[in-house]
Order: sequence, then C-alpha cells, then structure tokens
Amino acid sequence: NQSKPFAGKKILITAGPTYEAIDPVRFIGNHSSGKMGYAIARSFADQGAEVTLISGPSKLEPPSVVKEFIKVTSAKEMLEACEKRFPHTDIGVMAAAVADYRPKTVATEKIKKEEKSMALEMEKTTDIAKTLGKIKAPHQLLIGFALETNNEEANAQQKLRNKNFDLIVLNSLNDEGSGFNHDTNQVKIFDKNGLRHQSELEAKTKIAELILEQIAQL
Ligand code: PMT
Repeated sequence: NQSKPFAGKKILITAGPTYEAIDPVRFIGNHSSGKMGYAIARSFADQGAEVTLISGPSKLEPPSVVKEFIKVTSAKEMLEACEKRFPHTDIGVMAAAVADYRPKTVATEKIKKEEKSMALEMEKTTDIAKTLGKIKAPHQLLIGFALETNNEEANAQQKLRNKNFDLIVLNSLNDEGSGFNHDTNQVKIFDKNGLRHQSELEAKTKIAELILEQIAQL
C-alpha cells in the first residue's frame, strides 16, 4: 500500500523522561515533555499502524489512537517494557530522554538535611536503544534520536553506528525552539551514509510526519 506504508505494522515508541529515585520524595529527571514521541505515536497510528507507546512521566494525555500505552517511571522499567515487546515489533523509535545514570542506592527514608554537603554515588543505567540494536533482526528497523549541545553531527553519527540505528534524528539545544518541551523542533536526519534530510523549525506534529516519510523510504 503506497499511501499507507505503515498499515498493520507494529511500532514501538519510547517517549518522555525517566525519573531515577534518590529517596521516597526525590528523583533525578530531565526536561522531556513527551511531545515529540507522542506526536510520532499519533502519526503512525493515523496511518493504520499498531502502536505501543512506552512513556516516562508526562503530563500529556495518552493518544487515544495508540493500541497499547505503557506508563513507566525509571530507565529500568522502560528497558524491561521494551525488551519484552521489541521482538514482536517491526519498527522501534527511541524518542525518550532516558537517564544515563541513577543513584547507586535508593534511600528508604527521606534523606535528612543534616550535613553541609552531600554526595550522591551514581551508576550507569542500561542503554535501552543499544540493547535493542544488538538484538535487532534483519526485518526490523530501529530509529534513534540524538540530543546534543556540541559536536552535534559527529556525535549523532557516532550514536547511529554505536547503537545500530537505521536512522538517527538529531535535535540540537543550540537551535532556538528545538528539543525539550517546545511545541516545535528542528532536526537533521542521518543514515549510515550521512545526511538524508534537514528540516526547518516546524511543529512537532509536522516533524513527526517528516520522520515517518524518511522511515517509509527504508
Ligand atoms: O519530549 P520532548 O519535550 O518533546 O523533547 C523531545 C526530545 C528532545 C526528548 C527528543 O526529541 C529527543 O531528542 N530524545 C532523545 C533524547 C536523548 O536522551 O538523547 P541521547 O542523545 O542522550 O540518546 C541517544 C539515543 O539513545 C536516544 O534515542 C535515546 O532514546 C536512547 N537512549 C539513551 C540512553 C539510554 N539509557 N537508553 C536509550 O534508549
């Protein structure tokens, strides 16, 4: 089907931030709102795809058009949800801003304000995208994002190779109106041969459509 290339395809999308607990009342998070990932989820579903959206904490309403909506909090929960579903998926899109580190231990009681300073020991989380990239089968596609502040293009292309992505969508915090929480974004899309597409600053809904067009070409 030329007009609906994703009809019936199974799509896994991650979106939003992750929260990594410090104690029962505090966490380490980031500014992701979920807008970009949710827009991609909606675009796929509008084209007849069966979408599973795995979302970290977000204020957004889950798009009613997705088949399955899974709410998670931490990077570990997001990983487990992805590992379970990715083998039954045609296309994975990793739009979440996953924590790279989490507190090594989570205090069971609220940490008291007693010391003049405190240090928090952190350990690496498992890279979800890289884990899926390793188990990706030949019929599957994996699309990643890169959120950069410097050396943007080189870093994005390195992430594409390192995580075995078929495409990577670069957004830079140096472009005004791009990245976290904005309703707009400006992206460059790379495959392993280099730049495929460069967008203007557009609504995230429009950026989602551009990303789907690029995936359809694969
Ligand atoms: O949610 P919004 O407010 O709309 O903002 C959208 C966004 C800026 C969060 C989104 O467009 C975006 O860029 N998402 C990826 C952010 C990020 O964490 O990028 P990264 O360069 O650190 O990670 C590279 C890739 O690996 C990403 O696909 C990421 O989802 C994935 N990753 C990273 C770490 C990890 N432990 N697991 C992962 O899967």
